[in-house]
Amino acid sequence: MKKVLVLGSTGSIGINTLNVIRSLPGKFQITALMVNSRIDVLEPQIEEFHPECVVVKEEIPAEQLRKKLKGKIEVLSGISGLSKAASVCDYDIFIGAMVGSAGLAPTIQAIKRGKRIGLANKETLVVAGELVTQLSKLYGAEILPIDSEHSAVFQCLIGENLNQVEKIILTASGGPFLNKTKADFLNVTIEEALNHPNWKMGHKITIDSASMMNKGLEVIEAKWLFNIQQDKIDVVIHPQSIIHSMVQFVDGSVKAQLGLPDMKLPIQYALTYPDRLQNYNPRVNLPSIKQLSFFEPDLDKFECLKIAYSALDSGGNAPCVLNAANEIAVDKFLKGNIKFSRIPYIINKSLERIEHNTQPDLDIIFQCDRQTREFAAGLS
Ligand SMILES: NC(=O)c1ccc[n+]([C@@H]2O[C@H](COP(=O)([O-])OP(=O)(O)OC[C@H]3O[C@@H](n4cnc5c(N)ncnc54)[C@H](OP(=O)(O)O)[C@@H]3O)[C@@H](O)[C@H]2O)c1
Repeated sequence: MKKVLVLGSTGSIGINTLNVIRSLPGKFQITALMVNSRIDVLEPQIEEFHPECVVVKEEIPAEQLRKKLKGKIEVLSGISGLSKAASVCDYDIFIGAMVGSAGLAPTIQAIKRGKRIGLANKETLVVAGELVTQLSKLYGAEILPIDSEHSAVFQCLIGENLNQVEKIILTASGGPFLNKTKADFLNVTIEEALNHPNWKMGHKITIDSASMMNKGLEVIEAKWLFNIQQDKIDVVIHPQSIIHSMVQFVDGSVKAQLGLPDMKLPIQYALTYPDRLQNYNPRVNLPSIKQLSFFEPDLDKFECLKIAYSALDSGGNAPCVLNAANEIAVDKFLKGNIKFSRIPYIINKSLERIEHNTQPDLDIIFQCDRQTREFAAGLS
């Protein structure tokens, strides 16, 4: 039985991870659950899965939970609690299901212990992809993608020679604003931006999907996961979200991975790889889908995708600045403090202002993340 730590167990990916584990009795044991603050969602998880380790990052709900649990389980807290749990708790597989670059520090602890990392938290690879992949090689940690696009690419690459890959084609649904104009972005509401046509996800990634920054972050994530040049990573709009991504080889052959838009499949695969285990989730029925369509993204309208390609080209700490500024801008939009159309403005201004560093180490990455957040917080 494999032991599993879930960082972000109360979120969309975390809850789906627990659903997968529940559906495969006798295969996995939850030993650690870590969340930000929502102890009302965490408590029933603790009752059901009996973890040995629990972390609630925010101090006040952590204290409330300690009182309720009456010492039956130690509840760690704070950012240091997340890293401590990742470095001392007993687990074989670390599921990085939290949102934001704050996932980087605990993920590094898991890497240093040579664990299998099921990575949904793309921000970790966006801010420090080079360092994270170097460390995973050094410590023998295995990073398996949970993002559906990267899981698709990973599956298409099995048995293939990486030198024979011509390009990776990441598919994108286009989100809720696919058919809006750039001028419409001045007036879109929070509710409209959160109304994703195909996927039910946390708020931050849903806004990233509406701006297509999500695809930009995924291009950066793909570069590090598959060690491929950025000019070999294409994005194609595929509104049905049935083909999760493709790989084109030097002989012109294209392999694709298909599935319904349901994160349980990539989560299960990251847990069970290299095995595929029987499940009874709904299957793709192509005749009922009828049509799969594709077209190029409009980079003028979806400026965030263009900025992400450019930050990846600049390299160094630029993706870290991009990510931190985006996290702040999305938070401002979700709080009603800025218009949707200001998201790329805040990111561009931050990229202009924060000093470029071509070879950042981890300390510089953490510092750059902090500085960018402070700077972006002052913009509107
Ligand atoms: N949702 C999807 O379908 C999907 C698909 C592909 C990739 N991803 C990626 O997966 C990650 C999670 O996305 P999501 O949609 O599951 O997000 P979500 O629903 O917002 O859940 C986020 C989770 O992270 C926890 N969290 C947030 N900040 C934290 C902190 N500082 N310390 C500890 N825990 C923290 C939250 O705890 P509380 O509940 O206590 O706030 C919650 O458990 C993101 O990186 C996203 O890009 C998601």
